[in-house]
Amino acid sequence: MNLESDVEILVSKMTLEEKISLVVGVGMLDRKDNPKGRVSGAAGETVEIERLKIPAASFADGPAGLRIHHDREGDTGKYHTTAFPVETMLASSWNRTMLRKVGEAMGREVREYGVDFLLAPAVNIHRNPLCGRNFEYYSEDPLLTAEMAASFIEGVQSQGVGACIKHFVANEQETNRMTVDTVVSERALREIYLKPFEIAIRKAKPWTLMSSYNKLYGSYTSQSRWLLMEILREEWGFEGFVMTDWFAGDDAAKQIEAGNDLIMPGKSFQNSPQRKSECEEIRLAIESGDLDLDTLDERVKAILRILVRTPAFSGYEYSNSPDLDVNAAISYEAGCEGVVLLKNESALPLSAGAPFAVFGTGQIETVRGGTGSGETHPAYTVSLLEGMEERGLAVDKEVAEFYRRKIEELRSADYSISYGMWNEEIRPRLPEDLFDEAALDELSNRNEAALVVISRISGEGRDRRLEKGDYYLTEDESKLIAGVSKAFRKRGKRVIGILNIGSPIEVESWAGLFDGILLLWQPGQEAGRILADVICGSVNPSGKLPTTFPRTYEDVPSRSFPGEPADNPSVVSYDEGIYVGYRYYETFRVKPVFEFGFGLSYTDFEYSDPEIILEGEEVIISLIIKNTGSTAGKEVFQVYVKAPKGKIDKPRLELRGFGKTDLLQPGEEEKLTVRLSKEELASFDGYRWIVEQGEYEFLIGASSRNIRSTGKVRL
Ligand code: BGC
Repeated sequence: MNLESDVEILVSKMTLEEKISLVVGVGMLDRKDNPKGRVSGAAGETVEIERLKIPAASFADGPAGLRIHHDREGDTGKYHTTAFPVETMLASSWNRTMLRKVGEAMGREVREYGVDFLLAPAVNIHRNPLCGRNFEYYSEDPLLTAEMAASFIEGVQSQGVGACIKHFVANEQETNRMTVDTVVSERALREIYLKPFEIAIRKAKPWTLMSSYNKLYGSYTSQSRWLLMEILREEWGFEGFVMTDWFAGDDAAKQIEAGNDLIMPGKSFQNSPQRKSECEEIRLAIESGDLDLDTLDERVKAILRILVRTPAFSGYEYSNSPDLDVNAAISYEAGCEGVVLLKNESALPLSAGAPFAVFGTGQIETVRGGTGSGETHPAYTVSLLEGMEERGLAVDKEVAEFYRRKIEELRSADYSISYGMWNEEIRPRLPEDLFDEAALDELSNRNEAALVVISRISGEGRDRRLEKGDYYLTEDESKLIAGVSKAFRKRGKRVIGILNIGSPIEVESWAGLFDGILLLWQPGQEAGRILADVICGSVNPSGKLPTTFPRTYEDVPSRSFPGEPADNPSVVSYDEGIYVGYRYYETFRVKPVFEFGFGLSYTDFEYSDPEIILEGEEVIISLIIKNTGSTAGKEVFQVYVKAPKGKIDKPRLELRGFGKTDLLQPGEEEKLTVRLSKEELASFDGYRWIVEQGEYEFLIGASSRNIRSTGKVRL
């Protein structure tokens, strides 16, 4: 079948009305003013044009797993999907193969539940730790983001369904996200914010892209021809179609004109009653000559070229029963690779059989992921406590029972759960300071160690707060940590912090009270099993930080977050330019508490035989990593580049490559290689990409601050 000619034929048969209807989605599904969609709980759909046998295609979120309803009215069936670790945790694995596997698993669920497009991955940048959706994004670094996204997209699309790379572009906050105007230098835009899209699009060819809510330089991104035609198509050769974010922008005709092919979910008046229908706006623009028919035809073709590849188009008979057991195992495996061991003073792994007490309500109310469109509806979430019990670890049963009873009691009284706009649970924060000194003294006597769980949740539509209970610990949490630490350490017992969070919190002021700190992120439905296997040592943590943990919030370079005026921002200036994350901390020598790329292991790795050579147009970096400890483990290595001083200033180092070993047994070694083209070393000088002449220093590191060897190449 010749797709292009099929598309031409289809378009030639379409009436103007049909063309207009195809570029506008059917509206928000599952609402009083709209029918149910093909797939209950999906985020949107394109129209069906029966006459031409063009079926409706279905779109559903998101980055941590397929979000559809698990229960359906008048139907006793269950439609659960798998909750995977959040993107930030997936990126902590630095493992392309794992991301591909997770993509394949989600792709299978998408296909088998009758969905055509997964609204993921999200590749916005961790510009500020308080962005409410950071958990849905991979990293503060564009290369790590891009590589994770590319592998994920390849995995999803290998299953015959489409991925959607989002939100294009410069959407790094939730505050006023639908109107805020981002102002950023073109250099930073190109090097930091567009880069993940550029690399992932070139490598993995996502079927679709979602423009963002915000404005850039005064225009909505969905209405910017410069972004959608010049950069995306002419420069990068994007061949898929572009959809808006849900209800984004304010002028449908401008969106079509600018190269935004599909307006989602359609029916903006559902959200803004003052608006006409998008179809009407487009028709009027055509009648007045503001929008020409050829442009509309181009948009229709862009959509159809992809639609003809979807399962909907080929009439695929989906099963509604993907293998959730297989995917649960992949979710578990991905979680195990993303756990980051931040501190370990002979605290972990726990000695086999030694009893320990677990504190913190998060052991029961474990946060598997964030809220909003990135939420998931799995059949279960194994809480941290359940996981440890299931694996037979020696948790203090009385303490566990106490928490179970206490939480039940609190939730059925003053702390009852309500529901928000996404139908997400809103759980009032529970008290944490539940043991007095005498009780802790007794517990430290009969246990060998203590675990303290700190949990945080955030989500779409709201940024996090620089407050106790969010970025900072609550008074209660501080008291709990201080009390447990004092009681257990007095008897020489270890105290271990478990961070069940989606984005950095302040740790500097209290990290000293712990002997070990494990960053569990928001690990999806297998949470407790992952934690149990890491603390008992059957899994050796191998994750490294995809984002910096600053010493204090005052050190964060994006001082303008979330924009001006402070009470209701209309503009946000990315004044820090390219100095985002470690590019800032390293260049300006601001020491973070845990740096980008950092993560410990239960074993040790030796880096040797580094070689950095120029071969034709490529720089080839190779090294040998050997496991010199006594436990099997995996190691992530990173290649940073320090460019010569030339016309434009450069960060002290920038990530240009990375890799991860296989599981190395004690004494085993592996040779690893990274190949870099000269273009991958380029900077944007304001007008174009240039590779400045001079000596480039290549730094091979175990983190951005732990550089193991360096070498130079003259270009
Ligand atoms: C989010 C998108 C999501 C869409 C559909 C929007 O609110 O920003 O990421 O894909 O909703 O649910």
